[in-house]
Amino acid sequence: MKEQLEQIREAALAALAAAKTEEQLEQARVSFLGRKGELTLVVRQMRDVPPEERPAMGAVLNQIKDELETRIAQALRSVRAAERSRRAAEERVDITLPGRRRRRGTLHPLTQVFNELVDVFGSLGFSVVEGPDVEDDYHNFEALNIPRDHPARDMQDTLFVGDGLVLRTHTSPVQIRVMESQQPPLRVVVPGAAYRHDYDVTHSPMFHQIEGFLVDRRVTFADLKGVLTLALQRLFGSDTRVRFRPAFFPFTEPSAEVDIACFQCGGDDSACRLCKGTGWMEILGSGLIDPNVFRFVGYDPEAVSGFAFGMGIERVAMLKYEINDIRLLYGSDLRFLRQF
Ligand code: PHE
Repeated sequence: MKEQLEQIREAALAALAAAKTEEQLEQARVSFLGRKGELTLVVRQMRDVPPEERPAMGAVLNQIKDELETRIAQALRSVRAAERSRRAAEERVDITLPGRRRRRGTLHPLTQVFNELVDVFGSLGFSVVEGPDVEDDYHNFEALNIPRDHPARDMQDTLFVGDGLVLRTHTSPVQIRVMESQQPPLRVVVPGAAYRHDYDVTHSPMFHQIEGFLVDRRVTFADLKGVLTLALQRLFGSDTRVRFRPAFFPFTEPSAEVDIACFQCGGDDSACRLCKGTGWMEILGSGLIDPNVFRFVGYDPEAVSGFAFGMGIERVAMLKYEINDIRLLYGSDLRFLRQF
């Protein structure tokens, strides 16, 4: 029996030495020390041992049991430690690495100009209205006092859709739509696209305008000058000089084109590329709303008056940011767009 015990002991130690995981250790423990384990079965054979040999046998048995239990505990500790360091190595996060920077997008320069203008006019009490890009002849021309065969239609380089429809050549038709459906007092700005058959470094067949108009009682040209001067100075800087030049539009009378003093050369450089040496840059068209326009929308021209203006967004963006080719604004070239 003593030999049998020694064999079991060696087999157990070998099994423990071979065990590499917690499960394998547990298996080894069960097969030697468990209820049906080899060592347990030997204990049951004790009753066959002569009584005088039993104490010595029992001592050997306990000694082996203790030894195996100690070994198992040791092996368990080292297996767990090994597992921990394996995980630590595998899941290692280097917290000293610099973060990966995410590039944030920026608003398109045209969107920025739109936003600024809507803010400026919003602070003066104007609210935003939009209208359709595909417009009928009546709203784009007729009701704006541009009759069929009027030479002013020539200026507009209209793109026709057919069926009496056009791509609106300006945002002014929205004046008509608003006045048809609302009564004065009105203070409205209309940001949006417009379309003309025109293409060079400063013109695109699709471009953007902001229209603005105010209708109330006893609105004068002084109101127009005051509001537009304030708005342009908010946009281009408070010391910007503004000039009103007589002009003609069929839907305003009198009409004025508005220039700002060249912020590049201030008028001192006869070779300035921005103002072409004139010292001034044209920025918008404006005027007091023509009585005929009021008649088309059913307003009484004796009772109400108002002013309107239209500004090209591309033109403002190109002047403000010194962009020399309008196509850059539509090219989606990130090297260009990231500058804003
Ligand atoms: N609609 C004109 C244009 O596109 C601009 C304008 C608007 C002029 C309102 C006067 C009043 O050229």
